Amino acid sequence: MKRHPNIAIDGPAGAGKSTAARLLAAKLGFIYIDTGAMYRAVTLKALMDKINMADELAIVQMVEDAKLEFKTDETGNTRLFLDDRDVTEAIRTPQVANHVSLVSRIPGVRHKMSSLQRAMASRGGVVMEGRDIGTHVLPDAEAKFYLTASVEERARRRHEELKQRGYEIELSEVMRDIRQRDEIDTNRSLAPLKPALDAEIIDCSAFCADQVIELLLAGVSGRIE
Ligand code: DC
Repeated sequence: MKRHPNIAIDGPAGAGKSTAARLLAAKLGFIYIDTGAMYRAVTLKALMDKINMADELAIVQMVEDAKLEFKTDETGNTRLFLDDRDVTEAIRTPQVANHVSLVSRIPGVRHKMSSLQRAMASRGGVVMEGRDIGTHVLPDAEAKFYLTASVEERARRRHEELKQRGYEIELSEVMRDIRQRDEIDTNRSLAPLKPALDAEIIDCSAFCADQVIELLLAGVSGRIE
């Protein structure tokens, strides 16, 4: 049987990757995988287990024992389970956001996550979204995109999203968090955030989700059947 292609979508926090990747997967009938959610889930576990964030060994050990699973609910939405508990909402708190870059820069954590992600993509037909998918996790993906936007626009979008979920937080605080995460994600030694050489770079600052989808579909056509 012919293997379906894989699509990699990378970029910094708040560029609109998740919405774009989810919609693209739905349009193509592919499986959507949010790898940031996996890093967030193990960060949540480290916080719940009260592990010292400086204790890399303890964090790697905890990640080795963690069970992560994506499941589709009856409405077709993807939900993430950590040790059989649905953590889809719990991983979206500012507390998890503030610690996730620390956990995700640990090589042993990245190693485990990357091999889980490759296994999920082994049969093809996935749209995988993250920071290092085109460069590291799936270097042979048939189509690669790097979505970005100005830090002001990314902070504005994240702020809006958090407000809608009921969090009272200053825009300046969201901006500080985004800058901090960019700094750690871009400068870590293993699989730092950067566009793959063969990725199409799209600046989403001035585009709405529908326009981004049009660009992605145009970029994909010809590269996948
Ligand atoms: O996409 P997100 O904001 O939910 O990702 C949360 C964090 O996870 C992000 O700050 C960096 C990390 N991450 C990573 O290091 N590699 C990935 N492939 C995806 C996310």
